[in-house]
Amino acid sequence: MKFMGMILFILFSALSAQVTSANHTLSEGLSLSSEKPEDVLTSPNGVFSAGFYSVGDNAYCFAIWFASRPSRIQDHTVVWMANQDQPVNGRKSKLSLLRTGNIILTDAGEFTVWETNTISFSSLELHLYDTGNLVLRTLGGENLWESFDFPTDTLLPQQLLTRSTKLVSSRSQTNYSSGFYKLLFDNDNVLNLLYDGAELSSLYWPPPWLMPVLAGRFVYNSSRIAVLDSFGNFSSSDKFTFSSADYGKLLHRRLTLDYDGNLRLYSWDEEGEMWVVSWQALQAPCNIHGVCGANGICSYVPGIGRNCSCLPGYKMINHTDWSKGCEPELNLSFGKSKFHFLQLSHIDFYGYDYNISYNYTLDQCKQLCLELADCKAFQYSFSTTKGNSDCYPKILLMNGNRVPSFEGSFYLRVPEKNLLSNANLAEEIGLNCSSEGLLLLERVYLKSRVNKTVKFMLWFVCGLGGLEIVGIFLVWCRLMRTSKNSTADKQGYLPAITGFRKFTYSELKKATKGFTEEIGRGAGGIVYKGVLADNRVAAIKQLHEVNEGADLFQAEVSIIGRLNHINLIEMWGYCAEGKHRLLVSEYIEHGSLADNLSSNSLDWKKMFEIALGTAKGLSYLHEECLEWVLHCDVKPENLFLDSNYQPKVADFGLSKLRSRVETDNSSFSRMRGTRGYMAPEWVFKLPITSKVDVYSYGIVVLEMVTGKDATKGVQVINSGGEPQHKRLVLWVREKKNRVASTKSWLEETIDPRLKGKYDIGKMETLIVVALQCAEEEKDARPSMRQVVETLLAQENDLQ
Ligand SMILES: *[C@@H]1O[C@H](CO)[C@@H](O)[C@H](O)[C@H]1NC(C)=O
Ligand SMILES: *[C@@H]1O[C@H](CO)[C@@H](O)[C@H](O)[C@H]1NC(C)=O
Ligand SMILES: *[C@@H]1O[C@H](CO)[C@@H](O)[C@H](O)[C@H]1NC(C)=O
Ligand SMILES: *[C@@H]1O[C@H](CO)[C@@H](O)[C@H](O)[C@H]1NC(C)=O
Ligand SMILES: *[C@@H]1O[C@H](CO)[C@@H](O)[C@H](O)[C@H]1NC(C)=O
Ligand SMILES: *[C@@H]1O[C@H](CO)[C@@H](O)[C@H](O)[C@H]1NC(C)=O
Ligand SMILES: *[C@@H]1O[C@H](CO)[C@@H](O)[C@H](O)[C@H]1NC(C)=O
Ligand SMILES: *[C@@H]1O[C@H](CO)[C@@H](O)[C@H](O)[C@H]1NC(C)=O
Ligand SMILES: *[C@@H]1O[C@H](CO)[C@@H](O)[C@H](O)[C@H]1NC(C)=O
Ligand SMILES: *[C@@H]1O[C@H](CO)[C@@H](O)[C@H](O)[C@H]1NC(C)=O
Repeated sequence: MKFMGMILFILFSALSAQVTSANHTLSEGLSLSSEKPEDVLTSPNGVFSAGFYSVGDNAYCFAIWFASRPSRIQDHTVVWMANQDQPVNGRKSKLSLLRTGNIILTDAGEFTVWETNTISFSSLELHLYDTGNLVLRTLGGENLWESFDFPTDTLLPQQLLTRSTKLVSSRSQTNYSSGFYKLLFDNDNVLNLLYDGAELSSLYWPPPWLMPVLAGRFVYNSSRIAVLDSFGNFSSSDKFTFSSADYGKLLHRRLTLDYDGNLRLYSWDEEGEMWVVSWQALQAPCNIHGVCGANGICSYVPGIGRNCSCLPGYKMINHTDWSKGCEPELNLSFGKSKFHFLQLSHIDFYGYDYNISYNYTLDQCKQLCLELADCKAFQYSFSTTKGNSDCYPKILLMNGNRVPSFEGSFYLRVPEKNLLSNANLAEEIGLNCSSEGLLLLERVYLKSRVNKTVKFMLWFVCGLGGLEIVGIFLVWCRLMRTSKNSTADKQGYLPAITGFRKFTYSELKKATKGFTEEIGRGAGGIVYKGVLADNRVAAIKQLHEVNEGADLFQAEVSIIGRLNHINLIEMWGYCAEGKHRLLVSEYIEHGSLADNLSSNSLDWKKMFEIALGTAKGLSYLHEECLEWVLHCDVKPENLFLDSNYQPKVADFGLSKLRSRVETDNSSFSRMRGTRGYMAPEWVFKLPITSKVDVYSYGIVVLEMVTGKDATKGVQVINSGGEPQHKRLVLWVREKKNRVASTKSWLEETIDPRLKGKYDIGKMETLIVVALQCAEEEKDARPSMRQVVETLLAQENDLQ
């Protein structure tokens, strides 16, 4: 790493030597003219330039941009603008440093459109630093004004975001004027993303339905400072921090609030000559507010992006601008005509509830909405934790989001006479995820490889948990990358796969000393321990031999490499040569949960942390991470513990690679899990959803706290005096139901090796949650996110 830094440093020095002829400073009494393209300030290292930047037809803004490769990139990446909301004429406009100390930007030689309002009696100069900071300083070195104090949409390394500064997105990809999204510290000291539209505004990050504390934010530090360093570490005074995917490398970086409302960290890839995304705030782009305007619904199509549509009976207001939303096609004056409701599934409209009525029947909810003059629709959802349904009448329909995993229903109020049908919508959403489809499509997929039609992709999202789609997405990215003028190229919306690389077979053979040290064996292949050339200890999994193309494998595996979460095993690379298919990941010294359970090395605190961490990892797989990646084989053998007993989920996404192999052997079995942990859906050939992982998770937790083996079950003596095996989950459930007092059912259930050393309240919650997770009926199980929230609430109770 240090060595790389040195090389970069030398490169920079060489580069700066070349450009010393350019001007770094503007002296007092001089100006830069919009008419002369050579009137540009350049930082000593040649990375940044400041000057007039064309933003439209004869329209210019005074800006700072990345200029490290001036000759090859036409569209520079702008990092700061003085007058983005008031561009100036290309003729006779100039930026002048007056002798009074003020910097003014004049339009067409007449109006001042921007100024710094600085006054000084000593001599001044305007200097562009290597960091990208444009500074007005006295010759004595005192700073009077700096562009870092007035950011636009980008924060550069070392630039502080403070209580008085904020990032504001641009309006669109081509329109640099101020847009609707802001990054700022709110009054509660929390760093937030805000949608600040023409009429409405709302916070959307951290997730608004979570208290800041539950989102990991600290609300009691009023200093309100955040900063990014050159190595890719961002930290904020509310304790929000992240490290980029390529953390540790000295690269050009920028944190930009993009016009689409997402906050992204980009790093400059010298080789590819483009920006790559090395972190982003929101993985599900439809969770950004204001995307499709009022009455619009946002859908996320992996590989294509988000797509807006209107509610049935509504039409787009401005055909070039989705933020304006949709309006009713007919005059729907509520109150006069008779109404009924149109049910739409998997649609969530966040916020703007009139009030929330708990434990309402559907009829009560309909009645309530009809009684309210401005009730446009209502959301009706079943709460698994409470066992009843809640009613949310909506006065405005904002932030519409189509979420396949969302189980509540949305009821749109429509006039009775209106002959609306939900046929169109049903077709789009109600994709059949039946098991037969799954099997069939898998074969089709094998033959046709990359089929790009959207519907096809949606099938896969449903059936297979999205891996394929993302695979296609990557292939698509690669296609895009090769076509020179693509927008993806310029925008650099390509995932960073830094750190994740391809190994040669001989490299891995050497690392494992000829595949000698076997450390595990599973359905997918054999795992060996190895030491890579850079001395990292790795777990190297040799998958069974396959016939499918290396490209496809590569595409799929690259996805696995992109998944990045503290509770997931870190993937380092893969190998695809001839028939060899190998995966390289970090090696975890402490072994798997299964090892730890059998050696009895876990105390209660560790158990709780393991339960929580595993839930977080799975929740990331299911919800945050490009949506709906299923694991399909959650079991103690696949959960590893690091030196702090933080769990790390392994083998995610591999179920897919494995089933392909089994198809080739023509003994394909649809069952992917491991007996004892498998949800009933597999057995009964019901649709497979993320709830299969929830089930397995429940069993793992029960196994951990009871100390009993789920694959063997529990031996009990039945009424006839005969010994009998009972499934673990049934055994716990019966204990809970049979024994009246809380204390004694826990005592009878929990592993005696814990010797009663646990928090009774937390333990009870944990087991109750685990039992809910292991419900036979998938709809009765909570989502992984709900599990995380419940456990986090418990954890915070303690403090
Ligand atoms: C630098 O500034 C001087 C005047 O201050 C000007 O004559 C010269 O052209 C500038 N050089 C460049 C490369 O812009
Ligand atoms: C950019 O957007 C602003 C605000 O919506 C608008 O007033 C302006 O006309 C737009 N500029 C261009 C060049 O489209
Ligand atoms: C990033 O910076 C914060 C604050 O300085 C520090 O606590 C954290 O450990 C750093 N992260 C990494 C990966 O270095
Ligand atoms: C508040 O945050 C700042 C910046 O992260 C840090 O330097 C300071 O020590 C924090 N103060 C408290 C009281 O935690
Ligand atoms: C996007 O939505 C429109 C309806 O607004 C639909 O016609 C179109 O097919 C969708 N595109 C994709 C890629 O899903
Ligand atoms: C739609 O929006 C664009 C840009 O904001 C604007 O120029 C145009 O006039 C609008 N069209 C209509 C029909 O309102
Ligand atoms: C809709 O109908 C109501 C009464 O029926 C009328 O007052 C209103 O002006 C109409 N609105 C439009 C946009 O036609
Ligand atoms: C919600 O508002 C309706 C109408 O005002 C009222 O009847 C109902 O009791 C309210 N529900 C709650 C939970 O306050
Ligand atoms: C919900 O309401 C029904 C009937 O109004 C009642 O029997 C039931 O106990 C309520 N459930 C809860 C959890 O309050
Ligand atoms: C889903 O599958 C079932 C049974 O195979 C079939 O009856 C139904 O029409 C299908 N629905 C759709 C939307 O294709």
